[in-house]
Amino acid sequence: MYIKHLSLAQFRNYKSAELSLSQGVNLLVGPNGQGKTNLVEAIRYLSTLSSHRVAGYLPLIQQNQSQAVIRAMASFDERDVLIELELNRDSANKARINKSPAPKVRDILGFVNSVTFAPEDLDIVKRDPSNRRAFIDELVIQVWPRFAGVYSDYERVLKQRNTLLKTARQTGTKGSALSTLDAWDASLVSYGSEIIAARLDLIERLRPHLFEAYQSIAIANNEPRILVKSSLLGAAIVQFDEDSEDLEYINTSDRAEITELYSKKLSFVRPKELERGITLVGPHRDDLVLMLGDLPAKGYASHGESWSYALALRLASIALLRAETRSGDPILILDDVFAELDSGRRERLAGMVANNEQVLITAAVAEDIPKALQATVFNVISGTVTGG
Ligand SMILES: Nc1ncnc2c1ncn2[C@@H]1O[C@H](COP(=O)(O)OP(=O)(O)O)[C@@H](O)[C@H]1O
Ligand SMILES: [Mg+2]
Repeated sequence: MYIKHLSLAQFRNYKSAELSLSQGVNLLVGPNGQGKTNLVEAIRYLSTLSSHRVAGYLPLIQQNQSQAVIRAMASFDERDVLIELELNRDSANKARINKSPAPKVRDILGFVNSVTFAPEDLDIVKRDPSNRRAFIDELVIQVWPRFAGVYSDYERVLKQRNTLLKTARQTGTKGSALSTLDAWDASLVSYGSEIIAARLDLIERLRPHLFEAYQSIAIANNEPRILVKSSLLGAAIVQFDEDSEDLEYINTSDRAEITELYSKKLSFVRPKELERGITLVGPHRDDLVLMLGDLPAKGYASHGESWSYALALRLASIALLRAETRSGDPILILDDVFAELDSGRRERLAGMVANNEQVLITAAVAEDIPKALQATVFNVISGTVTGG
């Protein structure tokens, strides 16, 4: 798919913007701090209803304004679909699909798919688990949009359960609080198991694409592999066997099995949870371990290898979305990536992305982008876009 036209109103530093985008490569050029990332963030937001830069959506609304609007005319093989999203400071957000109000905002998911690669993606490889969870969850939601609902249900239950645990910690655990806790446990396990199973399923589907993407970028024979380190496992409740090295890694995406592990571990950690006042088990505590050959990339891979790994994760995501969704090619966004590369790597990256149905590239200077990428050029200066 691709976006034919993008309109923004009171979004970040844009009072208003109208862009007629091309199929193929679009280049957004302008000095730093002018609004290039804001622009591509608007598209990414339509894809996932979350921002990689902030929690919540309020920072997306222009300062001193009460509403931001993102509107995209998305073009699919046989039809165009107009997606409109209204973000409101003081009331519920609203969405429209072809001018008809959507019952739920998340009904727009699955139309505008996108994959962004940016220098901060190194964090997926090098930094804390939340970066890796965000990577996989963004992809789960684009491949199976109904999961946006499961994630939000899980978040809600987690929050309420944590509140209850905190109260129980302060007031002591009397019978009624504990039976309420049991009820929350059932919902937590149900939504949480669904998320864990979906992540594992997705990682399995991503595997061949990741292998291929990494081989195309890095001259190496180390195979990239993603393992899931799960808070559901742990020596205390799992039978030891000769594979004890892999004990922390969950390798089943079977819902029933996951549910059973989850319930067991939850009852096992309950005293500790009551003591600490937080939920210690579930997808919000899990981590992906990005292996390169026999070693985790985190802590072992060189800077170059980490960079290649991060890029491979994104290129594999594109291949997966192309294979698993009806929208075909997702929009590829390369935010500020070329400036970091030497000319050989620039050419290679350009060659890899040139055939995607639509590519959006941001750069401070146009000269950083290989000439071979025949791009439609837009200039971005303090929230004003010209060209196209
Ligand atoms: N909600 C907002 N209202 C007004 N301006 C904003 C808002 N959020 C971000 N900005 C402004 O956007 C600018 C950053 O834009 P950005 O797209 O990150 O720049 P770049 O072109 O370097 O990618 C900053 O000047 C920041 O103050
Ligand atoms: Mg930027």
